[in-house]
Amino acid sequence: MTLTFAQLNLREELLAALQNQGYSTPTPIQAQAIGPALKGRDILGLAQTGTGKTAAFSLPLLHMLAEGERPGRAPRALVLAPTRELAMQILESLRAYGKKLKLHTVLVVGGTSQERQVNDLKRGVDIVIATPGRLEDLQQQRLIDLRHVKHFVLDEADRMLDIGFHPAIKRIAASLPKERQTLFFSATMPAQVADLAKSLLEHPVRIEVTPESTPVERIAQQVIMVPGGEKRQVLVDLLAQPDFSRTIVFSRTKHGADKIARILTRAGMKVGVMHGRKSQNARQAALGDFERGKLAVLVATDIAARGIDVDDISHVVNFDLPHEPETYVHRIGRTARAGKNGIAISLCDNGEDKKLLQQIEKLTRLKLAVGQRPPACGFVVTSGSAQMDDEPRSEQRPRRSQGQKSSRPQNKNKSKDVPGSDSKPAKRQSWQKRKRIALGKGQPEPR
Ligand SMILES: Nc1ncnc2c1ncn2[C@@H]1O[C@H](COP(=O)(O)OP(=O)(O)OP(=O)(O)O)[C@@H](O)[C@H]1O
Ligand SMILES: [Mg+2]
Repeated sequence: MTLTFAQLNLREELLAALQNQGYSTPTPIQAQAIGPALKGRDILGLAQTGTGKTAAFSLPLLHMLAEGERPGRAPRALVLAPTRELAMQILESLRAYGKKLKLHTVLVVGGTSQERQVNDLKRGVDIVIATPGRLEDLQQQRLIDLRHVKHFVLDEADRMLDIGFHPAIKRIAASLPKERQTLFFSATMPAQVADLAKSLLEHPVRIEVTPESTPVERIAQQVIMVPGGEKRQVLVDLLAQPDFSRTIVFSRTKHGADKIARILTRAGMKVGVMHGRKSQNARQAALGDFERGKLAVLVATDIAARGIDVDDISHVVNFDLPHEPETYVHRIGRTARAGKNGIAISLCDNGEDKKLLQQIEKLTRLKLAVGQRPPACGFVVTSGSAQMDDEPRSEQRPRRSQGQKSSRPQNKNKSKDVPGSDSKPAKRQSWQKRKRIALGKGQPEPR
């Protein structure tokens, strides 16, 4: 029998908010995680991309905080996420679900004014949603008190525990009270990371909705074999097809993403770029315009691979394949969310990509279908510059209607934590680095 949200014993205010969001039944991860979480158990929750893990931790968290006593002004819950955009989306969800509860949530992320965050913290807060860098900055300056944190959530737990973040997470976890609840969620959990995760969890309930690292079945996946030098042309030809209504193109490098975006723009497409060297304002604007349908294509590095929830992404195109096979599962999971369908196409050359493809097929236990190159659209990509040899087919691309409503939890009270304009300009590149870029090698995104 399918459980209802009411049978999960959630507070009336939350049930009303869920009804408002149009959620009729809990997803499997929600049905299985909410009960034990409400009992205070630690949870290791694994479920496919787009299956509602955010609400699986947000609902019990809000319920427990609403039932509990506020110790003073210090936060009682800490949610960590690997990127600022994901932290912002979690904030939106918590505010939407908790609209009728008197709980205060503050975002502690980089690229935006610290002063404002500190002032918000001083006014009193129940939940802090943070990225590790800014959180540790505030801790070092003794501007945040985590001694009353009773609930610790790690979204995208495996990403948070891999090489780049692990020392910071360990330090942050060590600064929290020992007696606390810890909730871990992700769509993937490599074995070595799962061991680390267990070191932070106490007698966790492991909830695994489908076998680990299983991409959503509703994603039609295919790979197009193409020599590296021809990828840009194939990409333009692909995106010129009318069914590519809202596409995210992933590139391993920031430089590569910029280059792809330039070519697509020249081909007449409405394109945004999101990567770690862009200012926070520019990152947020690109994602927002993509969400609102002002842009048909978002070119991004893996900064956008995890957790980002944009409705109705029709296609994910991997311009190249990611080094970690788990990242592939997250990248393609930006489509086919909340029960919808989607298409993922990977451009694979005969060199590095081919080796990475084998790792992906091993992890996902799937053999990817080999697709055909798309028909030429008439826009010819030349090395260095791009020229038209015909009327631009891209002009005929259907434009998405503007202002389309998102089905992600929305809160009409807009977040106060809009990123400021204090992000630092990109550092000057060293000569060697510039030379590498000139040679087309680009720079991998820092972890
Ligand atoms: N019970 C529900 N009924 C209907 N829609 C839901 C329900 N729960 C969540 N959703 C919607 O499903 C979408 C995906 O949810 P969410 O972002 O939490 O997925 P996720 O499992 O965290 O995915 P990822 O692994 O990519 O982070 C959201 O737009 C959300 O509003
Ligand atoms: Mg998520």
